[in-house]
Amino acid sequence: MRAVDIIAKKRDRQALTTEEIEFFIQGLTRDEVPDYQVAAWAMAVLLNGMDPRETADLTMAMVRSGQTLNLDAVAPIVVDKHSTGGVGDKTTLAVVPMVAAAGLPVAKMSGRGLGFSGGTLDKLESIPGYDVSLDIDRFLDVVRRAGVVVAGQTADLAPADGRLYALRDVTATVPSIPLIASSIMSKKIASGAHAMVLDVKVGRGAFMTTLEDARELALRMVDIGQRVGRRVTAVLSGMDQPLGLAVGNALEVMEAIHTLQGKGPADFYEHCLLIGGEMLLLAGLAEDPEAARTTLADAVASGAALERFRAWIVAQGGDPRVTEDEGLFPRALVVHEVPAPRSGVIAALDAREVGETSVMLGAGRARKGDPVDLAVGIVLHAKIGDRLAAGQPLLAIHAQNADDARAAAERLLAAYRWSDADLEPPPLVYDVLRG
Ligand code: URA
Repeated sequence: MRAVDIIAKKRDRQALTTEEIEFFIQGLTRDEVPDYQVAAWAMAVLLNGMDPRETADLTMAMVRSGQTLNLDAVAPIVVDKHSTGGVGDKTTLAVVPMVAAAGLPVAKMSGRGLGFSGGTLDKLESIPGYDVSLDIDRFLDVVRRAGVVVAGQTADLAPADGRLYALRDVTATVPSIPLIASSIMSKKIASGAHAMVLDVKVGRGAFMTTLEDARELALRMVDIGQRVGRRVTAVLSGMDQPLGLAVGNALEVMEAIHTLQGKGPADFYEHCLLIGGEMLLLAGLAEDPEAARTTLADAVASGAALERFRAWIVAQGGDPRVTEDEGLFPRALVVHEVPAPRSGVIAALDAREVGETSVMLGAGRARKGDPVDLAVGIVLHAKIGDRLAAGQPLLAIHAQNADDARAAAERLLAAYRWSDADLEPPPLVYDVLRG
């Protein structure tokens, strides 16, 4: 078999066999297929697609390219969650202790933010002492003791995806549904998940900006799960405006804590109940969505979810007093309040602009490896559908100097559209696809 023939076959719109996909991915993993051939192949896949069987074969070939984690000893069924990324998406931080308090342990490997989309590891590092770099033994020990662990990738999981993704990034071949679906699924399967809830974001602040594309990606991932024996539920959720009110690392952790204390923003709490509820359903820990929701709401109301959050933070070396004393978080030097420039109803609030402004303030990174400022960000006081009078508080900018705050305010004010008539907020959830 030769890589060039596999590229030609895909160029000519033919389906690759299981053996051809395995050969190509093994060659890529061992560095036997050079970058230019991998890039040509990725472009052929982007242009001509892959059918569902090829996509599942690609996923499993990438799983086999490295180590796989066995979480059988952690729980009879380990359910993971994954978000395709958005602005203000701190769901993992609140949902993981909520489901753990309801009896479902979570062992999760998360990533860092890139571009306008934040990352769970960066957010967690705003908790003093929290250690994201655990080896496999400690990773397993933490989940056994606390019922929750969230750390950076420890094992060499799906290394073929790492190499392929780096090349896709610089050859304009990221936006391919089979390549994205197999990339996400290979990492989740290699990290030991028996089942998973995929939160596929759609809108201005998401990877997928149309519902049609998001649905296609979600269906492809559910289909991969079915073909390889993993139960997958995909939630299509809105990302036209940020989720919740806070955007920025420490600010988002504070909002997750407020939510566990029963005083988080309504949209974010609702989203946590939905994602966590689907996790409980997959694990067989709830009869139906309504029962799952009640179990999670009870875990918040009783304080059990907050207790679980504290136990988790302690087990990873962090300071649990952050749940009582926000002064322990990194704080920005300037907090600049921006009033509503006019009276009316907020008709649009561009999530991507909010995400990019928070990156401009220092909360995110333009390139992998750049440092991030954990303190800065944006706190919204109102969202789409809210009516404000001119001069009422609209948002607060947390910046390290007045110039940054002024530049951010100018940019953010341009991200709003206003209406005189009342209007409904955009849907939080478009659909739930259960495999
Ligand atoms: N996230 C991934 O993990 N892979 C992709 O290809 C795109 C987003």
